[in-house]
Amino acid sequence: MVILLTIKMDSSLLACRLPKWIVHQRQVSLLSRFGEEQGLRSLGALLLGGLAPIVLSVVGIMDKNPVVAALVSLVIGCFMGWVLMRWRTKELHSQLVETSDELAKRTKRLDAMQSELDWLHGNIASIEADKSIGKFWCRKAGEAQPSKPQLGRDRTTRFISVLNLKGGVGKTTISSNLATALADQLGFDERVLLVDIDFQGTLSNRVVDVTKRTDFLTSPLVDHDLLTSTRLIQKEPLAAGDFQKMLLPSADSSKIDVICAHERLDQAGTLELIRAVTKRDYEVRFRYLPSLHCGDIYAKYSYVIFDCPPRLTVSCINALAASDGYLIPTKLQDDSIDAIGRTLKWITEITKSNVTSAQPLGLIANEVRMFGGKFMKPYGNTYETLKDQAAAWSATYEQDIAVFDRTISLFKDFGTLEGGQTAYGHIKEAKDEFDQLAQETIKRMNRFVKL
Ligand SMILES: Nc1ncnc2c1ncn2[C@@H]1O[C@H](COP(=O)(O)OP(=O)(O)O)[C@@H](O)[C@H]1O
Ligand SMILES: [Mg+2]
Repeated sequence: MVILLTIKMDSSLLACRLPKWIVHQRQVSLLSRFGEEQGLRSLGALLLGGLAPIVLSVVGIMDKNPVVAALVSLVIGCFMGWVLMRWRTKELHSQLVETSDELAKRTKRLDAMQSELDWLHGNIASIEADKSIGKFWCRKAGEAQPSKPQLGRDRTTRFISVLNLKGGVGKTTISSNLATALADQLGFDERVLLVDIDFQGTLSNRVVDVTKRTDFLTSPLVDHDLLTSTRLIQKEPLAAGDFQKMLLPSADSSKIDVICAHERLDQAGTLELIRAVTKRDYEVRFRYLPSLHCGDIYAKYSYVIFDCPPRLTVSCINALAASDGYLIPTKLQDDSIDAIGRTLKWITEITKSNVTSAQPLGLIANEVRMFGGKFMKPYGNTYETLKDQAAAWSATYEQDIAVFDRTISLFKDFGTLEGGQTAYGHIKEAKDEFDQLAQETIKRMNRFVKL
């Protein structure tokens, strides 16, 4: 009876190994580790508590006075239980402190993750609200970003982006022929660097000798991620010697080096964009600055010209960030002129965010039909409309957005040009027009030089 009383004293005995004999294994396994430990200790209490009645019974007290024996064993059992409980409470307390510390640490991590998630949702919401990635490019640039050395005071190399957020207006035609014309007018040791940043690689096709380009683009020995314009948007800036390996010569001018575009540029740009959207402080807009605004480039080139794609890609944003000026070619058609408004709007946005300080060099009317030095109908009227629009944009964007006096004709012989051949090098009238365009560009560019 005394033993039974002692057993009752500690209900946690249910969890001890003793009742495992009688409690179903599955129930026992549901009990916590604490319960098991506690049960083991309770077993200790039981044994000690049980010892008393055994001693008492040995001395015969139990027989004489079983009530006293039961009370004594109850007191001893309670005391032992109390001692073990205190010991266990202390242990639990220290465990509780440890667990609280761990919980605090994890809560902190959870808060950090939550704020990361909120930031990510914010990014996605702003992209969704704008229905384009453009707004994302317009985030304010951090102060720690590299800046361009001052044109005129710190360098003479001029950086120009040729862009319009519309395809087929003559960006590649203007880039390749203007570069060739500028190279023609340079001193004997001056050079032009042409950078193809449209994954379609049209510029590369048009200016690099077809065999050299094909060998380069199909050779298994060429790592296209390292040796084409894809390399320029990668995180690590170019190391000494890397740049030289990327250059191919222009077929029509010994003064032009070309960095070709490979179709992998599109995928690489998308990956960088995903990283920029999902990782805080992952900046992809200023990758060209360390690689192209450096002493080696300044020493070798007078002009660096970017042939941009018709979209605000990572490469396009980088080109604008690295440029002093931009040229917008357009056809004399309403939809091409509308696209200029869109292009200017985006450039203004990213200028406000300190992503670029590039200024408008002007709008170039391309594929114009002339006869006897005069516009054929309806080109004359549309050219005047373009000028009026340019004046309106100048007022809206508080910039001098002018139209080039020199327009570029629609050359009938354009279709006869082979890969690597520029109009400048093979069509007499084209050479004259692009020479004049180059002179006007130099004049306009000189306004940006600060001494
Ligand atoms: N002045 C021009 N005369 C004749 N064809 C032209 C002229 N400018 C561009 N093209 C033709 O128009 C097409 C698109 O020109 P391109 O320079 O590749 O435009 P973009 O780079 O803006 O997409 C090409 O097939 C090109 O040969
Ligand atoms: Mg193009």
